Amino acid sequence: MSSINASQSGSFKIGGELEVHRLGYGAMRITGKGVWGDPADRAECLGTLKRLPELGVNFIDTADSYGPDVSEPLIREALHPYKDLVIATKGGLTRTGADKWIPVGRPEYLIQQAHKSLRHLGVERIDLWQLHRVDSKVPRDEQFSAIKSLIDDGIIAHAGLSEVSIDDIEAAAKHFKVATVQNKYNLVDRASEKVLDYCAEHNIGFIPWFPLAAGDLAKPGSVLDAIAKKHNAAPSQIALAWVLQRSPVMLPIPGTSKVSHLEENVAAVGIKLSDEEFKSLDEAGKKAAA
Ligand SMILES: NC(=O)c1ccc[n+]([C@@H]2O[C@H](COP(=O)([O-])OP(=O)(O)OC[C@H]3O[C@@H](n4cnc5c(N)ncnc54)[C@H](OP(=O)(O)O)[C@@H]3O)[C@@H](O)[C@H]2O)c1
Repeated sequence: MSSINASQSGSFKIGGELEVHRLGYGAMRITGKGVWGDPADRAECLGTLKRLPELGVNFIDTADSYGPDVSEPLIREALHPYKDLVIATKGGLTRTGADKWIPVGRPEYLIQQAHKSLRHLGVERIDLWQLHRVDSKVPRDEQFSAIKSLIDDGIIAHAGLSEVSIDDIEAAAKHFKVATVQNKYNLVDRASEKVLDYCAEHNIGFIPWFPLAAGDLAKPGSVLDAIAKKHNAAPSQIALAWVLQRSPVMLPIPGTSKVSHLEENVAAVGIKLSDEEFKSLDEAGKKAAA
């Protein structure tokens, strides 16, 4: 048992049921360049996945479109049969090449992709399935209704949304209980601040993607740099510690393809920022984001 353990980040019950340690892992980086094809170092990616349970990480985020169809099978290869692991996946983006992501929200496509994820992950029911994007070409209620049918048919246990507004969340909530919202959020990207507050109010898990970013605040001489030096930590660890401290519904999923980076990221759970440090980072982050 390692001395660093994600359990130190505290717990959250997804959909009021599935208890996870708040610091999770994002499995987008265990693919090729442009999130396309196989990873350059497959063995290192498998090693990274196998290290997760040893570090107390029991919440993994992936998607059918990572590869596509590369990340989910790798998770299965490394960790199946799953023991005390919550695996969340997503559907609703199709791929036509490296770095290309196209929303497809037709109900039959969403349902097909959820069935494919079942097979790729090797499960009978998906713990948490998230709509990767609301497709503007399809009425959103049709997409939400397809998700409701996946819940009713026992294909997925809980459902979430990604890159959505409060209005989208409220529209989806008419069809099913929204368990999580996954929007881009980090110290210097605060566009989803109101969505985060809404999630906290309604006990919806908020999964910030790109959580390690600190932009120019990571540069020498910044507030972040000074705080990082004081804690003997990397700027990305401080950025992550700040994100974790921001809200009890926050479930960050830093992504990496390397064991050493995973260990560094999980070690951020041991950093406790003082109220003063939290506040000065908050203000500097808001200023940098403006
Ligand atoms: N819902 C959405 O639309 C959406 C969009 C994007 C991502 N996501 C999810 O969110 C997760 C996280 O987002 P993200 O991967 O974009 O951002 P991130 O976790 O903030 O950063 C990942 C990047 O930082 C590097 N990295 C990670 N740990 C590091 C460390 N300790 N030291 C130095 N470099 C490090 C990784 O490269 P190495 O592999 O070299 O470590 C990778 O390039 C993804 O894995 C995915 O599951 C969701």
